[in-house]
Amino acid sequence: MGLIIKNGNIITSENEYIADILVEGEKIIAIGKELDIAGHEVVDATGKYVFPGGVDEHVHYNSFNSLGYETSHAALVGGTTTVGDFVVQPVGVGLKDSIINYKRDCLDGVATVDYVLHGIIMDPCEESIEDLVNMPSVGVSSVKLFMAYKGMPYYVSDEWIFKALCTGKESGVTIMVHAENADIIDVLTKQLIAEGKTEPKYFGDSRPVLSEAEATSRAIYMAKMAKAPIFVVHVTNQKAVEVIREAYNEGVSAYGETCTHYLMLNDENLARPNFEGAKYVCNPPLRPQSDVDFMWEAINKGWITSVGSDHCAVMGGFAEGKHKGINDFSKIPPGSPGVQERLYMMWTYGVETGRISRQKFVEVCCTTPAKICGIYPQKGDIAVGSDADIVVFDQNYRGAISIKDSLSGSDYCTYEGYEQKGIAEKVFLRGKLVAENGKFVGEFGEGKQVISKPYAYCYNKFKEGE
Ligand code: URP
Ligand code: ZN
Ligand code: ZN
Repeated sequence: MGLIIKNGNIITSENEYIADILVEGEKIIAIGKELDIAGHEVVDATGKYVFPGGVDEHVHYNSFNSLGYETSHAALVGGTTTVGDFVVQPVGVGLKDSIINYKRDCLDGVATVDYVLHGIIMDPCEESIEDLVNMPSVGVSSVKLFMAYKGMPYYVSDEWIFKALCTGKESGVTIMVHAENADIIDVLTKQLIAEGKTEPKYFGDSRPVLSEAEATSRAIYMAKMAKAPIFVVHVTNQKAVEVIREAYNEGVSAYGETCTHYLMLNDENLARPNFEGAKYVCNPPLRPQSDVDFMWEAINKGWITSVGSDHCAVMGGFAEGKHKGINDFSKIPPGSPGVQERLYMMWTYGVETGRISRQKFVEVCCTTPAKICGIYPQKGDIAVGSDADIVVFDQNYRGAISIKDSLSGSDYCTYEGYEQKGIAEKVFLRGKLVAENGKFVGEFGEGKQVISKPYAYCYNKFKEGE
């Protein structure tokens, strides 16, 4: 017996049409009008939208002091069926082994959402660079390097970024960068703290727009010299986007992602009283509203390819985790939870306000992230042969984001009180119902690794012979 999702208004990144979807096992096996329902379980989706399960290419579990996959059902109730998680590389452990160990220790039997893994080079050495070519053999085709975080184990110098770009392309590994100028941030942070400017509202001043634009530009120049593609994660502002856009227009394979919070929140959040600003401390920081408005334009025009959540539910939440920086903003653990709310915010404040079309919503939240991660068309599309990761969406639901509905494990919601128009009425992960109207109804620990194919989206121009 299969499953038929009947008569839904299917949204893809390109189309919208009313049809039935037939699922057998874990796959979509037919899409068409009036499919024969005999012998199948039927879900009536008349009057509802149906779109692919969200693909959130940028989340943090078990890194940056964050909670782990025991909270990953939060993604599912928010309509996200696949996450892209960044795997830390302890010093002395090979890059490939860091993936094998992480799977064994933190994922197998724990993950509830499907996941694609990104490596992180944290032990910069020749062995780590050489290991880049082995990453596809463990299903990993993207590796992040941090230009920021001076003095922390994440930071790597340009030497290693350039070497990673040169070697990564030999096996089709996409190099991702966190682009902020670590030295500038270090100087400004010390200055601000010495002046007694210790509150969260000064956090943004320590990491100005230009420190991000400069690092973005530097990373892209390195990619140009290495003749390699580059993907800049969590881009926040107009200047950085312009750097990416100009390089792309000149023929460089430079791409960028933004995150929900850079579309929803602005720097005023950092100045909230009673230390509440700490809830919004994330790297790079929230920007002025003019940049927020520009980021919507950037996704609409295709200058930015995708929207991740950068979900990072800091251990101890606001009460204990974020309060580590009560006397010094630089000690506030960065990151905010958002995997559960990403699609709702993008729908409510993007689609419902007319800022983006429904097709753009699917493109930036599902399809292009899957392409970037090398897991398309298995993930990110409603198509015959794709995994049956499907959201039946009731667009008439009206509610508000509240911590009482949150499964993130944190004690606060980044989008507390924001309107929520629409709800994932039913969420299917590989054909299995896992969430219904905000409640998790699946089984814990059933998430699987999605094997990433090398030479993914960021290599498209290379295929054209760049
Ligand atoms: O502040 C954030 N975004 N925390 C996660 C780490 C990162 O740089 O992505
Ligand atoms: Zn980052
Ligand atoms: Zn991140």
